[in-house]
Amino acid sequence: MDELANRTGVFEIAGKKVPRLGFGAMRLTGRGIWGEPADRAECVAVVRRAVERGVRFIDTADSYGPYVAEEIIREAIHPYPDEVVIATKAGLTRNGPDVIDTPDGPKRLGPAAWPPVGRPEYLRQQALMSLRRLGLEQIDLFQLHRVDPQVPLADQVGELAKLREEGKIAAIGLSEVSVAQLAEARAITDIATVQNRYNVVERKSRDLLDVCERDGIGFIPWAPVAQGGLDGAAGVLADVAREHEATVAQVAIAWLLASSPVMMPIPGTSRRTHLDENLAAADIRLSDDDLARLTAAA
Ligand SMILES: NC(=O)c1ccc[n+]([C@@H]2O[C@H](COP(=O)([O-])OP(=O)(O)OC[C@H]3O[C@@H](n4cnc5c(N)ncnc54)[C@H](OP(=O)(O)O)[C@@H]3O)[C@@H](O)[C@H]2O)c1
Repeated sequence: MDELANRTGVFEIAGKKVPRLGFGAMRLTGRGIWGEPADRAECVAVVRRAVERGVRFIDTADSYGPYVAEEIIREAIHPYPDEVVIATKAGLTRNGPDVIDTPDGPKRLGPAAWPPVGRPEYLRQQALMSLRRLGLEQIDLFQLHRVDPQVPLADQVGELAKLREEGKIAAIGLSEVSVAQLAEARAITDIATVQNRYNVVERKSRDLLDVCERDGIGFIPWAPVAQGGLDGAAGVLADVAREHEATVAQVAIAWLLASSPVMMPIPGTSRRTHLDENLAAADIRLSDDDLARLTAAA
């Protein structure tokens, strides 16, 4: 067991025990999660460094770039060490950057720039294309990026179950689902993980986390450092950070790790400095009092 695993504990996915602190690859792209990053060499270096520092769980998606994040992961660390779990996703398409400039300044387009497409033929094609791009024989964890409301959930999850039976993927994950949707999917097939937005200041998915913890399903909280939105945080978060001589991002990650044994944060960054900062969160030991204060503060 490597050092990071000792500090975070592990969670098993696709038969591999990975340290619970992973890496999110969405930031290895251009502005608006579109096209090439400003500094590709630095992004390649970030992925290499993550693995050197003990990260064994890397989350990506076909739609990051699109394709760019998967290509950078391959360039950085292919052939992959056996113990690395690559988790990718399909089910969201792209129609351009999700940030545009307007006379009033930058405008976030949000979900309008990420239309869901969950037709089984499309999910299958994207799995095959991710296998090719990533240079894999089998995807360790393949996640339905969004449930497409225009396609029965059973058809979407059913296609992923077929891909697993065929050996093209090893485990199935869901993203941005409700407790009811998770239950519906589990009636069809085994679900290894769910990935919903969740962090110290946004806890809408607490009910889903409870189900995951009860049933041993991995919970991958996206936006673990609130997408950079914790900078300048005041109140309890800032107090606890000061007391631990840590940054608020580190305390946010430490709080997630301490929240549940099924929790697997995947902070995303395009810089080695932020990567190092985020991985150092594994050394922070929050006291029961810290945890209670942070949990109460929401
Ligand atoms: N399932 C889904 O629908 C979904 C949606 C969004 C994201 N995700 C996944 O979740 C991962 C994490 O989410 P995220 O990237 O949106 O949010 P995040 O990890 O909370 O935050 C990333 C943002 O914060 C900055 N950042 C990272 N570390 C920092 C630090 N220590 N101090 C200050 N700023 C820092 C990054 O900028 P720099 O690059 O400058 O460091 C980046 O802009 C993604 O990479 C992706 O794999 C999944």
